[in-house]
Amino acid sequence: MDDLSTDPRFSRRFVLRPFRRRDADEMVAAVQVSQMELNKWLPWAHLGYSKGDAVNYIRDSVRSWREERAYDLAIRKLDEPDRHIGNISVWFVSRSFKTGEIGYWVRTDETANGIATEVAARALQIAFEELKMHRVILRIAVGNRASERVAEKLGFFREGILREEIKVRGEWLDHSVWGLLEHEYRKNIGFYQGLIGVTDEAVET
Ligand SMILES: CC(C)(COP(=O)(O)OP(=O)(O)OC[C@H]1O[C@@H](n2cnc3c(N)ncnc32)[C@H](O)[C@@H]1OP(=O)(O)O)[C@@H](O)C(=O)NCCC(=O)NCCS
Repeated sequence: MDDLSTDPRFSRRFVLRPFRRRDADEMVAAVQVSQMELNKWLPWAHLGYSKGDAVNYIRDSVRSWREERAYDLAIRKLDEPDRHIGNISVWFVSRSFKTGEIGYWVRTDETANGIATEVAARALQIAFEELKMHRVILRIAVGNRASERVAEKLGFFREGILREEIKVRGEWLDHSVWGLLEHEYRKNIGFYQGLIGVTDEAVET
C-alpha cells in the first residue's frame, strides 16, 4: 500500500495534521489542563506528564507514520492553529482483514462542543476512503460516557465487552468495542460529510 499522505486534512472548524517536533510544549500544555480527565481513561496520561513524555510521543509518532504503523494527527483550530486541542489517530489492527481503529482525546477546556465528533468523522473519511478499511472500531472504557456518546453520534454499533482490556492507573478496565463497516459509512455518507462540513479542496492552505 502507498503511504498515507502527510498533507493536512480539514473539517469545518479544524485542521488535522501530523506532529512536528516543535509541538511538544503545546501538547504538554493541553495534556496538563486535561490531566484529571485523561488520567481516568488513557494509560499514557499519568499525572506529572512532562515535556519529555511529549517529545517521546512525537518522535514515536513521526516514526510510526513513516513505518505505516499508525497515523497520529494534531487537532488545531483553523483560526487558532498554534494552540493544541487534542489528538486523533487512525491505525490498522489488521491490514489483511482491513480492520482499523480510531483513538482520540480533546483538551478538557474545549469538551462538549462537538469537537471529537467532527474530527472523528474526518478520521473515518481517512480510514474508509484513503486507507480503504472495511471496518473501523473504537474501544471505550466502560463508564466513559462522553466517548460512548461520540460513538453513538457517529453511528457506531456497540458490539460487546472486552474484559480487562487495558490497565489504567494500575487497574484493569473493561472496554466496550464499537464497530462501523464501510457500507454503513457509505450508506450515510451525507451525514458524515455534514459533520465534516468542508472538503479539503475547498480550504485555502
Ligand atoms: C471523550 C472526549 C474525546 C469527548 O470529546 P468532546 O469533544 O467533548 O466530544 P463531543 O462534544 O463531540 O461529544 C461529547 C458528548 O458526550 C457528552 N458528555 C460529556 N461528558 C459527559 C458525561 N460525563 N456524561 C454523559 N455525557 C457526557 C456531551 O454532552 C456530548 O454529547 P451530546 O452531543 O449528546 O450533548 C473527551 O471528553 C476526552 O478527551 N476525554 C478524555 C479522554 C478520552 O476519554 N478519550 C477517549 C478514549 S476512548
